[in-house]
Amino acid sequence: MQKLEIKGGRKISGTIVISGSKNATLPILASTILTNKKIIITNAPILRDVETMVGLLSTMGSTIKLNKKEKKIEIFNQKTLKTFAPYHLLKTMRAGVLVLGPLLAKYGMAKVSLPGGCAIGPRPINLHLDALKKMGANIKIKNGYIVASAKKGLKGCFIKFPKISVGATENILIASCFAKGKTKLRNCALEPEVQDLINFLKKLGCKINRVGKRSIDVTGVEKLKPITYRVIFDRIEAGTYIIAAALTNGRLKITNIDPKVMSTEINLLHKIGVKIIRKKNYVIVSCPKKLKSIHTMTKPYPGLPTDLQAQIMVLMTKAEGISTIRETIFENRFMHVSELRRMGAHIEIRGNKAKIIGKSKLNGAELMATDLRASVSLVLAGLVASNKTIVNRIYHLDRGYENIETKLSNCGAQIRRLK
Ligand code: EPZ
Repeated sequence: MQKLEIKGGRKISGTIVISGSKNATLPILASTILTNKKIIITNAPILRDVETMVGLLSTMGSTIKLNKKEKKIEIFNQKTLKTFAPYHLLKTMRAGVLVLGPLLAKYGMAKVSLPGGCAIGPRPINLHLDALKKMGANIKIKNGYIVASAKKGLKGCFIKFPKISVGATENILIASCFAKGKTKLRNCALEPEVQDLINFLKKLGCKINRVGKRSIDVTGVEKLKPITYRVIFDRIEAGTYIIAAALTNGRLKITNIDPKVMSTEINLLHKIGVKIIRKKNYVIVSCPKKLKSIHTMTKPYPGLPTDLQAQIMVLMTKAEGISTIRETIFENRFMHVSELRRMGAHIEIRGNKAKIIGKSKLNGAELMATDLRASVSLVLAGLVASNKTIVNRIYHLDRGYENIETKLSNCGAQIRRLK
């Protein structure tokens, strides 16, 4: 099993080009089930999860090609797709459940493996299933599979999500594009990745309108167009590298981004004392002053993203005084804390609140990654810890960070992948 070895104490300075967003690419790929026109997706991140989604669509009969060199995915569904999404593919990538909506909308049937929970929580999909039932789907759970049918097709209706959910918003958005009549979605997720999916679907020819802050109206269509679409940048990857520069007191240019999409994260990091100069498609990060402690919590967009919580926590170990972070999205997203404690961090957990005592000296250690964002927080800690840090089970990391050791070593980090 591969691991990363990091020798801490080096500044992260130079330039990092941010990749396309994993969490935009996955729903966009799932939505291509709707069309049999030629689709080209550019700025695609070359990541394990994207390869798994490409593999899933290919198993279903899609003509799909991932060009790693050009970061391009070409899709051309000339024949009817199989409506079966097997467990062995979904067990490693929960986002595979996003094929459920498009399969039902296009073919009126689907058999999709129930995505299990994961390290950060049980990850139920009741909101997805309840909404599809409201649209006329008949849904049963059998032997770990969702067995769904909509013989007369899906019908547009009024759906107010009882809880804000990125995946449920995306699944139902895609399904509504081929439903009969109008679907009114309320209490939707607003994440930039959801907006990118909307932009993609509208370019395809779908009729989607934002009619209020969390309200989206969709009118079903029948015909779609062949298009080329560039996926939005990965704001979580960008936030991670901003924190890497701040932690190590480097000076880093982060390009291929839109700082306007990251104003929540940038404003919070400003408050902590990180200097971030914003330009049209890049930022320049430095950390001239002492880091100040903060009290914050994760929230649905435009709040602080839960996917940056672990990384912010590492930054807080260096701040003056006591900081607190409340995790309000997932039930068990403090898996990185025990590993950070083994490096010397002083962090107390009470319920969903973490208390971080600042100015702790971190020492290198052998660590275990548990989930995608927890793993990257261990890499960040290794960059600023004394001595050597080994991060095991970095397959978690490879799901969401493209070429992390290359991007960091090109900016001064002493980091290498051990087979
Ligand atoms: C998406 O997951 C992202 N994944 C996650 O990123 C991200 O952390 C999360 O949104 C929140 O922003 C992708 O986009 C592929 P949710 P998703 O539905 O859609 C509960 C990463 O590291 N819920 O918004 O699964 C759920 O348990 C990953 O890149 C229900 O109760 O998240 C959670 O507590 C991790 N019932 C909350 O809602 C449902 O039917 C938010 O989940 C669905 C969700």
